[in-house]
Amino acid sequence: MSEGKVALITGVTGQDGSYLSELLLSKGYEVYGLVRRTSQPTLGRSLINHLNSNENFHLINGDLTDQASIDNAFKEVQPDEFYNLGAQSFVPESWRSPLMTADVTGMGSLRCLEALKRNKPDCRYYQAGSSEQFGEVREIPQTEMTPFHPRSPYGCAKVFAFEITRNYRESYGLYACTGILFNHESPRRGLEFVTRKVTMTAARIAAGFDEYLSIGNVDAKRDWGYAGDYVEMQWRMLQQDEPDDYVIATGETHSVKEFIDLAFFHVGMELTWEGEGVDRIAKDQNGVVRVRTNPKFFRPAEVELLIGKYDKAEATLGWKPSITFTGLVQMMVDSDVALVAEAKERGYAPPMPPE
Ligand code: NAP
Ligand code: GDD
Repeated sequence: MSEGKVALITGVTGQDGSYLSELLLSKGYEVYGLVRRTSQPTLGRSLINHLNSNENFHLINGDLTDQASIDNAFKEVQPDEFYNLGAQSFVPESWRSPLMTADVTGMGSLRCLEALKRNKPDCRYYQAGSSEQFGEVREIPQTEMTPFHPRSPYGCAKVFAFEITRNYRESYGLYACTGILFNHESPRRGLEFVTRKVTMTAARIAAGFDEYLSIGNVDAKRDWGYAGDYVEMQWRMLQQDEPDDYVIATGETHSVKEFIDLAFFHVGMELTWEGEGVDRIAKDQNGVVRVRTNPKFFRPAEVELLIGKYDKAEATLGWKPSITFTGLVQMMVDSDVALVAEAKERGYAPPMPPE
């Protein structure tokens, strides 16, 4: 059915970009990924290194801050489907670099829509939306009808990207959709995000590389799913008769503390928590402190609770999450335990989450 189609993906070097590329290649697509120029061309692309030998996988240079480069990519590739996954996607960084975040994550989507409209208006467009758009949530659970109240420059940029995508659909009749995706994780998740930071640190502690995890607000709650599932929905949104926006979530919410407890339990440590707020710690069954809170990981404005309702996606896209919360935590811990063991065996330092 998809044979012979051409897809262009921004953010191809990220978590979702790597899974989406694999999915589209398996469906017979010719896949082009837009990559930024780096001083060391091979660095930072490890998630797609295994695809470089695939004759249907190609990289093309460009940047979401540069309209000409996106126009050129459209002209050259003439895609049938365009997936805008590229973003400055780390929420804390959006307070440190708010203008860059607005430019890449917000204006970047407008540049893509303009390039599509000018160069290939029949191309179908997917915008990576976010549950961060709901922020200080107005209702529980959140649906496609829940009003937005973003809590970070990143969330504000994603609201702009959502609205401009809807506006271009309504103004120019483009087939343009936004997936409002709740947090989705995997062994390919960046080490700065809380799930991967926890699983990698638990693996490092179990192997004797670290003594404890340094963490922020453990009371925050998220609706965490598996990234491999979520990219399938990105594709399905572009296969419908009519373009529309969809919430993709698991319908469950768990605290950061629950995630930590499960991850450490999976490496053989049963945690007991003590104290409150920034003085919170957790000890293992031998009384050794394994988690310490650190004020530097708290945010100026927090999104305390996210939980999505995915009824529309289930009815239209046939969506159902395939992996449980416990299964996701175990998958990520197992992968990091294996990575740390491999590093130890070969005598190099295992990956370390950024401080
Ligand atoms: P990610 O791992 O952080 O990947 C981000 C990608 O964007 C990387 O490939 C990065 O390239 C690229 N990028 C950054 N700045 C760029 C620029 N100026 N020009 C072109 N490309 C640029 O993110 P992800 O987790 O895969 O998420 C994919 C998308 O979904 C993002 O838009 C994110 O905001 C959104 N989202 C993610 C989640 C989630 O839970 N994962 C949930 C909702 C929405 P480099 O490798 O060169 O840095
Ligand atoms: N990163 C991080 N590091 N987060 C921590 C830490 C820490 O040390 N300690 C506690 N947290 C809390 C954060 O305060 C937040 O409430 C929660 O853990 C999740 O943080 P992240 O994993 O950084 O993800 P996020 O929810 O802010 O954003 C992710 O999901 C969004 C969808 O809701 C990103 O992938 C965004 O790009 C995405 O749009």
